Amino acid sequence: MIYKADSKRYEAMKYNRTGRSGLLLPVISLGLWHNFGGVDVFENGRKIVLRAFDSGITHFDLANNYGPPPGSAEENFGKMLSSDLKSYRDELIISTKAGYYMWPGPYGDFGSRKYLISSIDQSLKRMNLEYVDIFYHHRPDPHTPMEETMMALDQIVRQGKALYAGVSSYSPEQTSQAADILGKLGTPCIIHQPSYSMLNRWVEDGLLDTLETLGMGCIAFSPLAQGVLTDRYLQGIPKDSRAGKTHGFLQPDQVTLEKLEIVRKLNEIAQQRGQSIAQMAIAWLLKDHRVTSVLIGASSVEQLENNLGSLKNLSFSNEELAKIQEII
Ligand SMILES: NC(=O)c1ccc[n+]([C@@H]2O[C@H](COP(=O)([O-])OP(=O)(O)OC[C@H]3O[C@@H](n4cnc5c(N)ncnc54)[C@H](OP(=O)(O)O)[C@@H]3O)[C@@H](O)[C@H]2O)c1
Repeated sequence: MIYKADSKRYEAMKYNRTGRSGLLLPVISLGLWHNFGGVDVFENGRKIVLRAFDSGITHFDLANNYGPPPGSAEENFGKMLSSDLKSYRDELIISTKAGYYMWPGPYGDFGSRKYLISSIDQSLKRMNLEYVDIFYHHRPDPHTPMEETMMALDQIVRQGKALYAGVSSYSPEQTSQAADILGKLGTPCIIHQPSYSMLNRWVEDGLLDTLETLGMGCIAFSPLAQGVLTDRYLQGIPKDSRAGKTHGFLQPDQVTLEKLEIVRKLNEIAQQRGQSIAQMAIAWLLKDHRVTSVLIGASSVEQLENNLGSLKNLSFSNEELAKIQEII
């Protein structure tokens, strides 16, 4: 069947400005790290992506290594683009990254100019795109001079292979340095992609302040702590869950009793708010005006829809915030 996007797709979603740039991002974005690779059911992933777009999610986040096997999430997304989303390209913000291990030898990892330029070319081929909207350096490289990595990002933007540049998992100091170098080159660093959730709050220790000062946006990855901040693990580890799958990045021993105890307590507050725990975890991140977008994952359309339900109640009373603070 030929896909036609829902004509009401822009009615419920909210869009935030990415730092001081011109780019608006949906407050909820979809990441294709898990559930969209060669090992997954293509049709399931396609349904999630199309439902997301029908709900106003304009931003889809990828990386060279997403799969497994690495590269297969980009290939699958490329197929969805050509079969369903081609005519909507100008309504989409597609990001990809390079920075983790991708191919053997000295040039398929970290942050050299050689790796980044080769990798963006590969990503564009896999997705059959002329350009991505955002290209990120995926993680800091302790050995490559920051100037070299940023010059590669600048070149990629200048060549029109990406419209915007960003960094991921950089410390506040590294972020300032990256923004400074890119700014001098004439390509602003508009966005940072850090991990951030109720169970992982490192960004509150300086990074969010730094981003605000630099005029950069923040897109928070793993906002549900890879599924731990949902009801997924409250009755044990399901076989079809990320922690239950052999190729899942979440290891069963990371789903600790201590975390589940916190999740149970949070769940009580969520229920009083008339929300699922996942919805409350997303809303809690979005209460901070420095968070541009929350980058979720989903293994089903039901999960996606549940997460979108968070938009119905994004505000917290002081009492709720105090209770949550005590628990986390
Ligand atoms: N820059 C980086 O270094 C980096 C690193 C990691 C991720 N990311 C990006 O961030 C995106 C999101 O990361 P993530 O997948 O870890 O995010 P997440 O939203 O914390 O976790 C997603 C997982 O939580 C479960 N889930 C989601 N909604 C649920 C619901 N309503 N009820 C019950 N369970 C639910 C699902 O697990 P099951 O599969 O078990 O059903 C889903 O796969 C990635 O796709 C990627 O784009 C970036």
